[in-house]
Amino acid sequence: MRVVVLLGAPGAGKGTQAPLLATRIGIPVVATGDLFRAAVRDGTPLGLEARRYMDAGQLVPDDITVRLLLDRLGRPDADDGVILDGFPRTGVQARALDSALADRDSSVCAAVLVEVPAEELVRRMSGRWVCRAAGHPYHEVSSPPRSPGVCDLDGSELYQRADDRPETIRARMAQQLGALGEVVDHYRASGVLRAVDGLQSIAAVASDIATAVAAAGLAPRASVAKPAAS
Ligand code: AP5
Ligand code: MG
Repeated sequence: MRVVVLLGAPGAGKGTQAPLLATRIGIPVVATGDLFRAAVRDGTPLGLEARRYMDAGQLVPDDITVRLLLDRLGRPDADDGVILDGFPRTGVQARALDSALADRDSSVCAAVLVEVPAEELVRRMSGRWVCRAAGHPYHEVSSPPRSPGVCDLDGSELYQRADDRPETIRARMAQQLGALGEVVDHYRASGVLRAVDGLQSIAAVASDIATAVAAAGLAPRASVAKPAAS
């Protein structure tokens, strides 16, 4: 099982880059934020619980998040591997993932950190629009859709995320960056961490991520699978 972890602060570009990498190496994206937003939209008990934390800019508790992720990894389309966007976010989650992969005689192949300074993160999240069908992100200035309000990739409607309000953006930055440091340290210690400059263009970041995962032994696929929605 090939597992790539995309790491980065809120707004760093994980959700922009994950589908590009999925197309390149032919394994699906699993994004815990998208899984939580789907549960909120469907009004499930998990969604109602998660929403309390998401609206406050806090991380959803580890036990809920780990259960959600492991359940998703058990689906057949993840058999060959996954690109994880937004998981793990804490040391507890990173260790839970290691242990679940060890049970399958596997481990994280590469953890790619997309580095972006804080002031740029705020600019990116404030101007972000995402699509209803799969959460594909756009930016009203730096990467607008071809037709206003419509996703280039799947034609669904674009909307602004509830947690992209200025006060929630500030809370997310204040409450989540410390935990990100813990996860970065975890993968640095295990020798799979690679950092890319996330301030470049989307295409240049994608190219650096492709180089980083290739160095970890994940070559592009000759015939690629369609990247799955989360
Ligand atoms: P989640 O959905 O994962 O949000 P996040 O980590 O805060 O990250 P974002 O989705 O905001 O940013 P991104 O890095 O994907 O950036 P994007 O590509 O969109 O999580 C939401 C919430 O769910 C969390 O706050 C938490 O409550 C909960 N949650 C989720 N996972 C959890 C977990 N594991 N544990 C606990 N709780 C969890 O890009 C941002 C913008 O920048 C876009 O407009 C884009 O067009 C633009 N952009 C991207 N790249 C570039 C570039 N190179 N140049 C210029 N603009 C760019
Ligand atoms: Mg995202």
